[in-house]
Amino acid sequence: MPRLGHLIGIDLGTTYSAVAVMGELGRPEIITNREGENITPSVVLFQSDSTLVGTMAKRSAAMAPLDTVQFVKRAMGDPSWRFETTDGVTFRPEEISALIIKRLKEDAELHLGGPVDQAVITVPAYFDDGARRATKDAGTIAGLTVHRVLNEPTAAALAYGLNTADAGTVLVYDLGGGTFDVTVMRIENREFTTIATNGDRNLGGFDWDNALMQLLNSRFQEQGGPDLLDDDHTEADLREKAENAKRALTTIAKTKVVLSAAGVTKTIEVSREEFEETTSSLLSRTRDLTAIVLEDAGLSWSDVDRVLLAGGSTRMPMVRTMMESFSGKQVERAVNPDEVVALGAAVQAHLVDVDLTGTKSALPAIIIRDVTSQGLGTLARADTHGMENVVIIAPNTRIPAKHTSSFRTVADNQTEIRVSVTQGDDADPSFVKVIGEQILPIPSYPAGAPVDVTFAYDIDQTVFIEVTDLTTNRSLGTFEVHDVSNMDGAEKDLAADKIRALEVS
Ligand SMILES: Nc1ncnc2c1ncn2[C@@H]1O[C@H](COP(=O)(O)OP(=O)(O)OP(=O)(O)O)[C@@H](O)[C@H]1O
Ligand SMILES: [Mg+2]
Repeated sequence: MPRLGHLIGIDLGTTYSAVAVMGELGRPEIITNREGENITPSVVLFQSDSTLVGTMAKRSAAMAPLDTVQFVKRAMGDPSWRFETTDGVTFRPEEISALIIKRLKEDAELHLGGPVDQAVITVPAYFDDGARRATKDAGTIAGLTVHRVLNEPTAAALAYGLNTADAGTVLVYDLGGGTFDVTVMRIENREFTTIATNGDRNLGGFDWDNALMQLLNSRFQEQGGPDLLDDDHTEADLREKAENAKRALTTIAKTKVVLSAAGVTKTIEVSREEFEETTSSLLSRTRDLTAIVLEDAGLSWSDVDRVLLAGGSTRMPMVRTMMESFSGKQVERAVNPDEVVALGAAVQAHLVDVDLTGTKSALPAIIIRDVTSQGLGTLARADTHGMENVVIIAPNTRIPAKHTSSFRTVADNQTEIRVSVTQGDDADPSFVKVIGEQILPIPSYPAGAPVDVTFAYDIDQTVFIEVTDLTTNRSLGTFEVHDVSNMDGAEKDLAADKIRALEVS
């Protein structure tokens, strides 16, 4: 059945976002924004009469730091995070992201000449259930039907693997603005199978910027300047200059930064070598996680055919140098590492579109098999020492995944059972996150009635629980985990009204 609206792929990045759509020739294409740029800064500026998203907002960050929001992706799934404008309006992370998506959607509509009402949105492979749901909700609040949340490294591999029929075993190292993911996958006969994935949702170019900010700030102070981190304006100015200096050091060995505050103006020189030294521990963290993923995949470097770099931060020469010496291989980087995730999202969007409308695919068949990035379990009473976490679905399990545990009711006429759902793979409850506690209704039976509780991850890695009454062998229903970190239906409706009423430009 033909639809009116277009279906797009969105890479909702920590620092930059990008949109792509499948072109007529069966190749995904980036959709430029209204300013003609391929990527849009994920920055929102609130002004009393308008809301700006993108380059204009990023440029104004140093002028209006209190009304500018950046890096909101880091807060996705955090139920307590709020941004308050100087006008006193508060926003949740989902709402800020929705404003960014709204702008991307409108730019895509301009470009495509028709309504856009559906999307596939990418997320870091290491995002947990709460952050994935929050991302989906942001799309819904922005007025889109979100068909899938797709893992970013899988998207990168999709875009890459389209042109490389048999890539073999590929390690994708994805270092973006705010997050790091590393994934090992097999690409064979257009089948993309993820073997293992790991990452750090708080490690990215942002942290390299922070380290350079510290270095510049301490040099400025050594030369008699004030602490630039004491004031929101000078901090925002320093952040912008540090990011520019970082980019400069990608191509040149030495750069100068002019810093000015409280009547003191100094020109500070910084070399690539100094920058690399001050950020070496960050780079090591990516190296360590890469080693863990290889181990989890049960592979060594000799089993890896290709190393693919994605994410804008892989432009830093230190990344390539480290990965080449670590892997002993020549590494490959997409021509535009900050666009490849959106291109992959467009491929997935196209596959969904073909599925929904029954139209002919512009591509030969593609199969995508992904794995869970987080373990899923439940808290149980351990014999001697309090509670323990029992992992029910281990990390790196193929999704969709389902696993069943059997329980017996403990009291006569018990009408409900309580199941806590945890994320993580440690037996110690203090190292896992309780993502929800679900009360599940059951028919009233004498004590000891058997009940099966099935934990499931769907294809988007959102968590479901199904209860089966073994006395009657009947399913008592499937329940979404009421995730403590997400908005409920009424909150989402209110948020959608609020975002609809805001004009973004
Ligand atoms: N030439 C360059 N040298 C160094 N860093 C760069 C360069 N170009 C871009 N970056 C950095 O890359 C990051 C942006 O990359 P990208 O667009 O892939 O990230 P993102 O999608 O916003 O973040 P994430 O995927 O982590 O959510 C920024 O931190 C930016 O400073
Ligand atoms: Mg990214």
